[in-house]
Amino acid sequence: MRIGCCLAVLGCVACGPRDPCELGARPDTLDEAIALVDELPSPVTLTCYLSSLERPLGLELTSDVFSTQPAQGPESPRIFIRTEHLTMTVVPVGEGKDLLELGEDHASGMTAKAELKFPIVLPLDPEEPYDRILASPGAEITGCQVCHFSEIAIGENRYANSPIRPPDSMLVPLEVLHGAHESCDPTADEERCAMFSALLDHGEVFHSPFPDRFSTQFGP
Ligand code: HEC
Repeated sequence: MRIGCCLAVLGCVACGPRDPCELGARPDTLDEAIALVDELPSPVTLTCYLSSLERPLGLELTSDVFSTQPAQGPESPRIFIRTEHLTMTVVPVGEGKDLLELGEDHASGMTAKAELKFPIVLPLDPEEPYDRILASPGAEITGCQVCHFSEIAIGENRYANSPIRPPDSMLVPLEVLHGAHESCDPTADEERCAMFSALLDHGEVFHSPFPDRFSTQFGP
């Protein structure tokens, strides 16, 4: 204890309060992923959300540029966080960097979709992540179906559509992400470095590939 407190004086957080973002949460459905937002300090940031997830964290990475969250090369890949039935996707740079795109396995073989845009001032309307992906307000199709081209209504204003996985040739090894994190300069690249830290500095990560039944084809 004494040593811990000495270290705290030197900048160690051993004696400080626990990080309020570190909840060890393991959302496995869209509703659980959305409900997790309410457990975090408002305004909820995407980095806090990522820090809240239980470790070890299963990741897949792609340098693919054809999505609403395009990667910008292997050093700023699109990152997929995968639990048993849920995929959450983020990208460290560009227009999609404040988004958490969500896909949950559905009985049809498709994935049900939703999207969170950070920062989020609480309380969050739990319907908003479903409404915001509609092609236009009140539409009965999502904007996602442009690429996730086959889509069905699954009730309560929710939609499932074709699951897509990145082509194997575009996959980026986890070591590249660790390297990008280590060489990231927060003075030049604050948000990108913060996302890497939120993903990698809270415990182990491991490679979690998509199932083969997800297609690499998109568009009709
Ligand atoms: C411009 C084409 C395009 C649009 C529009 C698009 N996606 Fe995707 N999406 C992709 C591609 C391509 C992949 C495969 C991974 C990759 O290469 O980035 C993918 C994969 C995913 C995945 C992981 C697997 C799955 O399908 O479950 C999720 C989740 C996802 N997208 C969510 C969304 C959501 C939510 C929207 C609408 C807000 C959306 N996408 C709109 C192209 C698109």
